[in-house]
Order: sequence, then C-alpha cells, then structure tokens
Amino acid sequence: DKGNHRHFMEKEIYEQPEVISHALSHYVDLADHTVRPADVAIDFKALRGLAISACGTAYLAGLVGKYWFERYARLPVEIDVASEFRYREMPLSVDQAALFISQSGETADTLASLRYCKDAGLKIGAIVNVKESTIAREADAVFPILAGPEIGVASTKAFTCQLAVMASLAVAAGKARGLISAEDEKDLVRHLAEMPRIMSKVLNLIQPQMESLSRELSRFKDVLYLGRGTSYPLALEGALKLKEISYIHAEGYAAGELKHGPIALIDENMPVIVIAPHDRFFDKTVSNMQEVAARGGKIIFITDEKGAASSKLETMATIVLPNVAEIIAPMVFSLPIQLLAYHTAVFMGTDVDQPRNLAKSVTVE
Ligand code: F6R
Repeated sequence: DKGNHRHFMEKEIYEQPEVISHALSHYVDLADHTVRPADVAIDFKALRGLAISACGTAYLAGLVGKYWFERYARLPVEIDVASEFRYREMPLSVDQAALFISQSGETADTLASLRYCKDAGLKIGAIVNVKESTIAREADAVFPILAGPEIGVASTKAFTCQLAVMASLAVAAGKARGLISAEDEKDLVRHLAEMPRIMSKVLNLIQPQMESLSRELSRFKDVLYLGRGTSYPLALEGALKLKEISYIHAEGYAAGELKHGPIALIDENMPVIVIAPHDRFFDKTVSNMQEVAARGGKIIFITDEKGAASSKLETMATIVLPNVAEIIAPMVFSLPIQLLAYHTAVFMGTDVDQPRNLAKSVTVE
C-alpha cells in the first residue's frame, strides 16, 4: 500500500524519520543518551580490524561506516564490493571481524563473501533488513535495521537505516575500546536521537525546491557528484540513485580527485552536484567548486546554513539544510539526494519503483 504517495519509493523516502527512530531505539537508549552494548558475539574490544563487504547501495553505506569505525573506534576497516572481495584472496586473520550489509540478506556475492570469511575463522556480523534471510541465518551476530519492507527497487530507507545502525555500532565499539568518554557518548547519542525530527523538518523544507530543480536536471545527459569525507560515499550514492531510476548518466567522485581526470569533462552541459556540509573539509571542497565554476560548470550546491553563508560562488541552485552534527550529516544529506533522483525520474516518466533491468534481490552472481 502506497498510502497517499505516487510510488513506493516516495513513501519509503518519507517513512525515514519514523523507521530510523525505530531502528535507533534498538541500538541506543534515546532517553539516557547511551549506546546499548554491541552484540556479545563480536568483541569489539579485542578486535584488530574489520572487513566490510556488500553490494551497491549497501556497499556505499559500508563506505560511510568505514569512516565512522576508523574515527570513533580506531578500527582499521578493509572494505570492498562483494563481487571483488570474494575472489581477492585477501589475507584475513581471526583478530578481525567481518561485517556484511544487505537489505535483502540474499545477495549472492555478499553471501559468498560471508562464507569466505567464515571459513577463515572470522566472527561474522550481518546488518540486514530481512531477519529471516540466509545472510542473517549464517551470521554470528545479526544487527537488524528494522526499516520495514522496502518495495521500491532503488534503496532509500534501508540505506539510511543501515547508516543509523552503523553509526550506533561505531560509537558502541569506540566505547568498548575505551576511546569515547561518557560525555562524548552522551553528545553523540543525543545527536542521533535528534535525527528523526531533523529529517522530518528537512523533508518538508526541501520538497518544493527538489521538484522544481529536478525539471532542470532532467535536461542533462550527464551529471557529476562530488563530496569529501563521509560526503564522498554520498556522492557515489547520489550518482547511483540518479542513474538507476532516471537513466541519466551520473558519476560520483571524491572532490579531491576532480583535478586528476574528471575536470576535463566540465562544461555547461554537465552539472556538478557538490555535497558539502560545513565540516572540516568544507574549505577544500569549496576550492574544488571554484575550479568547476572557473570552467563554466553549473553547480548544484547541497550544503547547510553555515556553508551557504560562507560561500560566495554563483550556483545553478543551492540547497540549504540546517546545520547538523557531523555524525548525522550523512543521513540528513541523503534526503536531498534521494528526492532529487526521485523527482527527476518522475518528471522523465520512468518506472520509478521497477527500473528497467534491475531486480530488488540479486541472487545470482
Ligand atoms: C540500489 C540498490 C542496489 C542494492 C544492492 C544490494 O538502489 O538497491 O544497489 O543496494 O543490489 O542489495 P542488498 O542490500 O539486498 O544486498
């Protein structure tokens, strides 16, 4: 049932504040602002490293997770798409744990990677939406994302719930490893707890602008997305979402890679979507934006109030989100990315919930 939405994808985008709140309450105490201890099957305290593997959007969630586990828990993370991971013959050791992320819990390559790590003797964690799935069954520790059924082929709420779960786990791991003080824990969890309300506000705030901007975006054949830090995986996710449902060719790049190649493509026919909250990397990303502007590139700037106030660059559009804490920025900044792809696809008349050639669950290699 789509309720009063045109597509499941739209419904699932708007469900996010509610399902994230539900997911969070499983991993953190929303009143006390403390994390619940991570599953005993994985002893984060003793770990020397984490190997993460997944496909598509779930892989991109894992890439955000890498930044968090390394930053908050000082856990070195190896991450790869499952189709490569399973054949890389990477050396693994039992003081690493392996984490697999899958909405369906049935993705063939992800399952094969899981079995590879299991054979190597690693403890296995699974971040899944479908709790009865094969991946969940074969894991030592299951971390449900509690997003509810996701019908739209393009993943939206599963992505942000995967992020919310991993943010909570990274904080729990940091705490277990003695790296996060009680005070920092309270701050981080308080930010997570505020997120559902902020997401609701943002969804209402940006909806009209996303609809009008998507009309403009639909005229282009190619789009480039740029971001740094945790906004880099978001740039990849933005490009993936746009191409899979609107069929517009899109690429995501780390902003710092611009001058190592993609800058050659910049002209007035290829808009550049820059994802840049006012974080530690902001000035660097703005200087990349300047390079785009100097070559006549059209910029769609997704930033926050501070970022908008401190950049004087002319843009095709600036999407201004509220200033939010760094740990919740990836979830909040996912919203304009999802809505932009959604409305562009609707405007172009594609089959949003069932894009051509794609399946919701990929059980073959
Ligand atoms: C993109 C998308 C796919 C899936 C990928 C993994 O919107 O939905 O890229 O993320 O096929 O699927 P799961 O998470 O079921 O393993």
